[in-house]
Amino acid sequence: MEHTTAIFPAEPSAQYRWWHHGIIYQVYPRSFQDSNGDGVGDLKGIITRLDYLQWLGVDCLWLSPIFPSPMADFGYDISDYRGIHPLFGNMEDFDELLSEVHRRGLKLLLDLVPNHTSDQHPWFLESRSSRDNPRRDWYIWHDGKADGSVPNNWLSVFGGPAWEWDSHTGQYYYHAFLKEQPDLNWRNPEVQQAMLDVMRFWLEKGVDGFRVDVMWHMIKDSQLRDNPPVPNAAGDTANPLYDDYLPVYSTDQPEVHQIVRMMRELTDAYDDRVLIGEIYLPIPKLVTYYGQDNSGAHLPFNFQLLTLPWNSREIAGAIDAYEGALPAGSWPNWVLSNHDKPRIASRLGLSQARIAAMLLLTLRGTPTIYYGDEIGMTDVPIPLDEIVDPQGLNMPDMNVSRDPCRTPMQWSPEINAGFSARKPWLRLPYNAARVNVEKQKNDTHSMLSFYRKLIDMRKKSAALSVGSYSPVYSDGQLISYLRQEHDETFLIILNLSHRPAYFRPQNTSYNGIIKLSTEEERIGMRVTNVITLAGDEGLLVQIDD
Ligand code: GLC
Repeated sequence: MEHTTAIFPAEPSAQYRWWHHGIIYQVYPRSFQDSNGDGVGDLKGIITRLDYLQWLGVDCLWLSPIFPSPMADFGYDISDYRGIHPLFGNMEDFDELLSEVHRRGLKLLLDLVPNHTSDQHPWFLESRSSRDNPRRDWYIWHDGKADGSVPNNWLSVFGGPAWEWDSHTGQYYYHAFLKEQPDLNWRNPEVQQAMLDVMRFWLEKGVDGFRVDVMWHMIKDSQLRDNPPVPNAAGDTANPLYDDYLPVYSTDQPEVHQIVRMMRELTDAYDDRVLIGEIYLPIPKLVTYYGQDNSGAHLPFNFQLLTLPWNSREIAGAIDAYEGALPAGSWPNWVLSNHDKPRIASRLGLSQARIAAMLLLTLRGTPTIYYGDEIGMTDVPIPLDEIVDPQGLNMPDMNVSRDPCRTPMQWSPEINAGFSARKPWLRLPYNAARVNVEKQKNDTHSMLSFYRKLIDMRKKSAALSVGSYSPVYSDGQLISYLRQEHDETFLIILNLSHRPAYFRPQNTSYNGIIKLSTEEERIGMRVTNVITLAGDEGLLVQIDD
């Protein structure tokens, strides 16, 4: 397939904000740096690593939740939206972190978890105290069916039914995740205002925006209709799983866009902030979260690279489908890994992880890097009796624990990889003394050096950071595209296979100099016409005619 006509965006936007050209770096606070020797990362620890992030060249940190929480879902179950969990420090530490981030010209995003609270949040304690409590309607309560069974067939993402019986008040409440994470009723205007107040609190403090947790879950069908089963699913009817049903009534309801719009309006009332949404939906639905006339999320997270099979035709098709589906004036983004999915180096192997890094950092759109991917961290095997992730514990036979991708950052060959003086909350891999920042920092061939070069090139080049994207062609092995701005043009050719491949476009010839390659030795060489690539090779060519 060869296309030379489609160029995105059709009409370039004149004004770029920091989140258009910046690079986001996700920090999982429990695992970044421990400063007080309790085996769990904390805010003071993050402060001591800001120099590293600046050296790496990223622009913005997004912190997974740092708020008070019983930690049933490691902080995604919040019991106080305006505080800091003592494990991570206190508000003074947060203020210091924010000012140290800003002093370096970096940005800080917080994780906002509006869909559900902890069952220990005072709102829920009140709500469950009696049927006529003023906060009863803040959550989703419902009678059982006539036979006493659950109100509908909705299931929890973490296994089992999504309804929990409350014997005290004789009703069920809905929880899309753990029973310790009751869903808020976002149809209630008081809930909306309470959460907007939370946002205001942090925006006033000066945070640069939010990554909004499970944005597509926030509104559910008002009639609570049953979800239809996936056609022809071979599911176990006695023990149905979340994926056996199409969540068409429990997620992605049209009214969610009004809520997102309210969040956006508030965000826009402050200077230069950004609203990102966590949304796992197919492209045509995903892009609706930009909102009408871009009044929704600035960046609905695009997880194509995280969910699709790693095959050149599939990936090339997804890039083009995504570019083609973006509403006018909206801005793309790309993600390779996060704290919920296997790491990129584990999914693809280290050689292809470099190709993935090239893709992430040369595509049009804001890239998000997951901590540790820059040193090629892989999923750490966690013995069964050390599993702590509730998703893993609740579905013990399915091997779906997220612990392996949440292990401590590997900083140095020292004890506990320089992460902590004490035994960390999750174990390190056996090779941590070999695979770490310190070892890779001065090795020009390391993954870290490769990431750093890519980041540096992207930052220095308008073509790479904000330039147009146009596909050249893809085949069963490689994908190729151009990035262009003014008189600067880069050709990117990525071999997604392990076998040598030939780049041979049909109608045009491309001449230029290799500026970056997974094969260091090729940098500086001139290429023209048919370009031969090694297996697992990626090339960034500056076109000169
Ligand atoms: C999001 C988070 C995940 C969490 C879930 C429930 O998907 O990324 O870690 O468990 O929401 O809050």
